[in-house]
Amino acid sequence: MRFPVKLAIGSISAFIFIILVGFVLFPRMITSKVKGMVNLAPGNEIRDMFIKVPFALSFKIYLFNVTNPMEIQSGEKPIVKEVGPFCYEEWKEKMNIEDKEEDDTISYNQKDTYLKKWWPGCRNGQEEVTIPHPLILGIVNTVARQKPGALSLINKAIKSIYSDPSSIFLTAKVDDILFDGVVINCNVSDFAGKALCGQLRTAEALTKVGEVEKFSLFSSKNATLQKRIKAYRGKKNHRDVGRIVEYNSSKMMDVWPTEECNSIEGTDGTIFPPLTKPGEGLFMFSPDLCRSLIAFFVRKSTYDGIPCGEFTADLGDMSKNEKEKCYCSTPETCLKKGMMDLYKCSGIPIYASFPHFYNSDTSYLKGVGGLSPNKTKHEIKILFESITGSPLYARKRLQFSMPLESTQKVELFKNFTGTVLPIFWIEEGVGLNRTYTGQLKSLFTLTKVVKVSKWLILIGSLGGLAAAGYLFFKVDGRADITPVHEIRRHESKSGSTVNGAGGHVLSGNGLEKY
Ligand SMILES: *[C@@H]1O[C@H](CO)[C@@H](O)[C@H](O)[C@H]1NC(C)=O
Ligand SMILES: *[C@@H]1O[C@H](CO)[C@@H](O)[C@H](O)[C@H]1NC(C)=O
Ligand SMILES: *[C@@H]1O[C@H](CO)[C@@H](O)[C@H](O)[C@H]1NC(C)=O
Ligand SMILES: *[C@@H]1O[C@H](CO)[C@@H](O)[C@H](O)[C@H]1NC(C)=O
Ligand SMILES: *[C@@H]1O[C@H](CO)[C@@H](O)[C@H](O)[C@H]1NC(C)=O
Ligand SMILES: *[C@@H]1O[C@H](CO)[C@@H](O)[C@H](O)[C@H]1NC(C)=O
Ligand SMILES: *[C@@H]1O[C@H](CO)[C@@H](O)[C@H](O)[C@H]1NC(C)=O
Repeated sequence: MRFPVKLAIGSISAFIFIILVGFVLFPRMITSKVKGMVNLAPGNEIRDMFIKVPFALSFKIYLFNVTNPMEIQSGEKPIVKEVGPFCYEEWKEKMNIEDKEEDDTISYNQKDTYLKKWWPGCRNGQEEVTIPHPLILGIVNTVARQKPGALSLINKAIKSIYSDPSSIFLTAKVDDILFDGVVINCNVSDFAGKALCGQLRTAEALTKVGEVEKFSLFSSKNATLQKRIKAYRGKKNHRDVGRIVEYNSSKMMDVWPTEECNSIEGTDGTIFPPLTKPGEGLFMFSPDLCRSLIAFFVRKSTYDGIPCGEFTADLGDMSKNEKEKCYCSTPETCLKKGMMDLYKCSGIPIYASFPHFYNSDTSYLKGVGGLSPNKTKHEIKILFESITGSPLYARKRLQFSMPLESTQKVELFKNFTGTVLPIFWIEEGVGLNRTYTGQLKSLFTLTKVVKVSKWLILIGSLGGLAAAGYLFFKVDGRADITPVHEIRRHESKSGSTVNGAGGHVLSGNGLEKY
């Protein structure tokens, strides 16, 4: 057979083979393998990781030490100094698992356990800091909103419980403020004091430790079962993996005035549906904020050699965006960009924003001295691999502040200049280590090898075809004549051979097929 024809046949076969296998079969195989692996049905490795994350997340807390408490009392601008981080391991586990085959769902209660750790760069927790007393500021703000008439009673109660304080600030050891508890003296006999302590107990702000009652910012979150969540397992539809359908046994929240804001969208943030387009947003429901956040695509990135997308999120601007007006405290009083009032959500008049008011309205930053917002340190950042739906790295950051407003009915609050006073911020961090990225990488090495070789083979086959065409037409005359001579010579020597003829017929037929 003539060489150009052989080359053409070879090239065309390679071309068809690679189109079928490399461009059709292999991607389908990957897709179906991913669909089979990335869902929460029993027996899947990812389900076990979803139920009990096999490694600890890092949980860091930073407090804002108030350096001029007495000056603030007389109306000056607060000056704070960040102290931290105080470091913990966060172990995430889901309890009371219940599967429902018929609607392809899994129900659970999330339980997060925090263990104190010390890593290089962390503070030890024995330091004394001064922060606005969350119970004094919280109670006054709550009563001012709910029952302003009761403020003079609160004034008396504060004097009783906190033994006639000279400021609203609390100076205590960091460990006590965060988890161990600051003693609140509820062993009082006056009416106002007793009433307030009763309120604090029903709000579960106090925990009884032996004979005394204590308050801390985080102990109530530690190792406690959160509200029940029902989520799709995604066995039937991979786009639903982890998507929350019910929170607290209800399809909607009952927190905000509109249906849109009450709707629950997205996953709990530990898992996402696979096979999304690289630029698609990540929807996460945050029970702490009673809202869904969308992390949006920023740029392409890599993590430990795995190609991924970088995502970030913001808290929107309820003063400007029509859709976010439902988060306003009242229709007339909206917070500015980047700030959320969680009073309706948690019953505590606390504000959420990014640390140091990063990406928030500048008026908040102007109201407090000592802050320096910084994108790298304070933004939310997620590196996400969209084929398997894996978050590879995440830094979720949130700051909690309380509004400081003057009121004439409470003595300690008479001279305040209105500001939003930051109290603490937290960073939840995770980065998959080699053990886990290694598993992902093998998939990516395979797809990369296939990707490169399929283009090489494709280009090679097209090149071969071109070369065959070139040889066939360019060297036409000689190519035609030479074999004839050869065959004649062959024939003259030993007669026709069956094999030779057969070979010709076969390749002829083979050629016609294509
Ligand atoms: C990754 O983390 C897991 C769980 O903590 C651990 O068992 C494993 O040894 C780690 N792998 C590497 C390479 O550090
Ligand atoms: C907090 O501020 C107070 C007053 O400025 C200071 O005495 C204290 O040492 C600070 N605490 C820390 C941990 O820096
Ligand atoms: C959180 O709770 C666990 C289990 O009850 C306990 O071992 C741990 O010490 C607590 N963490 C902190 C920071 O107090
Ligand atoms: C409460 O106060 C009373 C009177 O001041 C005192 O006798 C009692 O021991 C206190 N109880 C506790 C638990 O501190
Ligand atoms: C959860 O449901 C219970 C009972 O339906 C309700 O009383 C409670 O307010 C709900 N909590 C939240 C945060 O929605
Ligand atoms: C933000 O923080 C990073 C990391 O600590 C630092 O390198 C950078 O200089 C800071 N940027 C500004 C504007 O302060
Ligand atoms: C508020 O200011 C008035 C007048 O300057 C002063 O008399 C009063 O002591 C101040 N109150 C507090 C709680 O600092």
